[in-house]
Amino acid sequence: MTLAKSMPIVASQTAINVLTALLEARTGQQIAAYRSWRLDTALKPLLRDRKLDTLDQLVTQLLEGSDRLIGDRIVDALVNQETSFFRDALVFDQLVEAVAAAQSDRRRVRIWCAGCSTGQEPLSLAMVFAERHAASGAPMPEIIATDVSEAALARARAGRFSQFEIQRGLPVRRMIRWFDTTGSDWVAKPELVKLITFRRMNLVSDQPPPGRFDIVLCRNVLLYLSTETKTGVFPKFADALNPGGKLVLGAGETVIGQTSAFEPSREFRGFYQVNTKHPRTRSTG
Ligand SMILES: C[S@@+](CC[C@H](N)C(=O)[O-])C[C@H]1O[C@@H](n2cnc3c(N)ncnc32)[C@H](O)[C@@H]1O
Repeated sequence: MTLAKSMPIVASQTAINVLTALLEARTGQQIAAYRSWRLDTALKPLLRDRKLDTLDQLVTQLLEGSDRLIGDRIVDALVNQETSFFRDALVFDQLVEAVAAAQSDRRRVRIWCAGCSTGQEPLSLAMVFAERHAASGAPMPEIIATDVSEAALARARAGRFSQFEIQRGLPVRRMIRWFDTTGSDWVAKPELVKLITFRRMNLVSDQPPPGRFDIVLCRNVLLYLSTETKTGVFPKFADALNPGGKLVLGAGETVIGQTSAFEPSREFRGFYQVNTKHPRTRSTG
């Protein structure tokens, strides 16, 4: 039997439990019981690809362990990778100011873009700072972009976007300056992609990238984590920041009531800084 697009997928409660537990174990993300229909929608392409009819069959393949990659494919399909170029555009103006302030002591400024998805966010940063460099000679910050999903990172490194994706948030001027067309897709110029270092990193279980950062951008990632998991992630960000460094969260996210490691920034509205009372636990220089 082949799966029609609209056909609901049969799933036992056991299969749902295995899949939600896998996602939580690998990423810290939870799918609430009332949202378990999301499994059905998100995993349909994978089932079709593997010529399976039910989530139970998929879970059987997972538990048999004969295919090492199947767990990765399931997690990649289940994590929310929604993103766009220049998402919440005003944040980028503030980031330019924050980088300029950090550059005043002539160090190379470092930005960590955590949960970078398919690359639109770090590529937006790279465009802003490369244009600033070309216009004024201001030094380029180092941009490190991480994500738990190898599939998302592969897309980010390729810098290849559909017509729909490229139009979301990217002004035509920048589309033409920084991208080439290939068939109906748009591909970021290598000179832009090479301004970013991409690495796989799980925010919940891995150590942050080495060295300290002036800005940690982690937008629209933590909202999918349980309160308990988030509690463990905030101190990692605090330890990864230079003194005076800033944390930037998504528009609907806050540290207030979530952690004592951060407090609202006094200089940049909507940004956060390390609470001076937070004890550092990491000695990376
Ligand atoms: C909704 S996207 C947000 C992308 C981008 N930051 C933005 O705001 O447009 C969330 C990203 O976080 C990643 N993610 C989820 N859990 C993660 C974890 N535990 N560690 C690292 N990345 C994670 C997902 O793979 C996904 O690419």
